[in-house]
Amino acid sequence: MGETMLDPHGRVILISGANRGIGLAVAQALYAKGYTVSLGVRDPSGLEGITAHWNELRLHTAHYEAAQWKTHAAWIESVVERFGRLDGLVANAGIGSRGSIRTIEEAELDSIWAVNCKAPLNLIRHALPHLEASGAGRIVNIASLSGKRGAQRQRRLQHVEIRRHGADALGAPPRLGEGRARHRALPLLRAHRHDGRATTRSRPR
Ligand SMILES: NC(=O)c1ccc[n+]([C@@H]2O[C@H](COP(=O)([O-])OP(=O)(O)OC[C@H]3O[C@@H](n4cnc5c(N)ncnc54)[C@H](OP(=O)(O)O)[C@@H]3O)[C@@H](O)[C@H]2O)c1
Repeated sequence: MGETMLDPHGRVILISGANRGIGLAVAQALYAKGYTVSLGVRDPSGLEGITAHWNELRLHTAHYEAAQWKTHAAWIESVVERFGRLDGLVANAGIGSRGSIRTIEEAELDSIWAVNCKAPLNLIRHALPHLEASGAGRIVNIASLSGKRGAQRQRRLQHVEIRRHGADALGAPPRLGEGRARHRALPLLRAHRHDGRATTRSRPR
């Protein structure tokens, strides 16, 4: 049975990090479907070329800097002031890391936490009353599956790296499928807890 789509007409959706990549693609797709979009970006002037031919009545832009919470509240307030409603939030802006467990710096970890975790939570906090008032509010968080299953490359490298020194990691072994990985890893971890020694798979070289 097909689901009924909500009528996009008059519905207002916020998209963070909408100046490039996935955020821009989402913004373009929603705009093309007829939604009113509010694009939250670090440099709103950079959107001018992108949105030059968009209907101004269905377009709003705002300064959004994930690490500056005052921009979150100001963005949402300006949207509600202009359109009187808010129907959806796509928390897309985010950063990744190419560092390994040995090289990553505390400042980079702090940035990832601030941009990818704290900022979306705070945006949702400010948007929530308006999304509830909409009666059909939607929140979409764009995140990485790597946060759930571990980045394949890093996980493999770090697994091998620390096993060389006789330690093991509490994580799924590499190259297992998403659903089964966790379950297949558990017996391994339990074996470690009970006998307290490394298994043949984690013996020091
Ligand atoms: N592409 C992938 O394969 C992939 C995989 C896993 C997860 N993701 C996630 O999907 C989302 C979009 O990815 P993407 O590939 O489209 O990324 P992207 O092309 O690198 O774009 C990232 C967007 O986030 C914005 N941003 C970064 N730091 C910000 C900050 N401190 N405050 C406000 N905005 C900030 C960027 O703005 P500026 O242009 O100003 O830098 C840009 O608009 C991200 O959350 C990313 O973590 C992507």
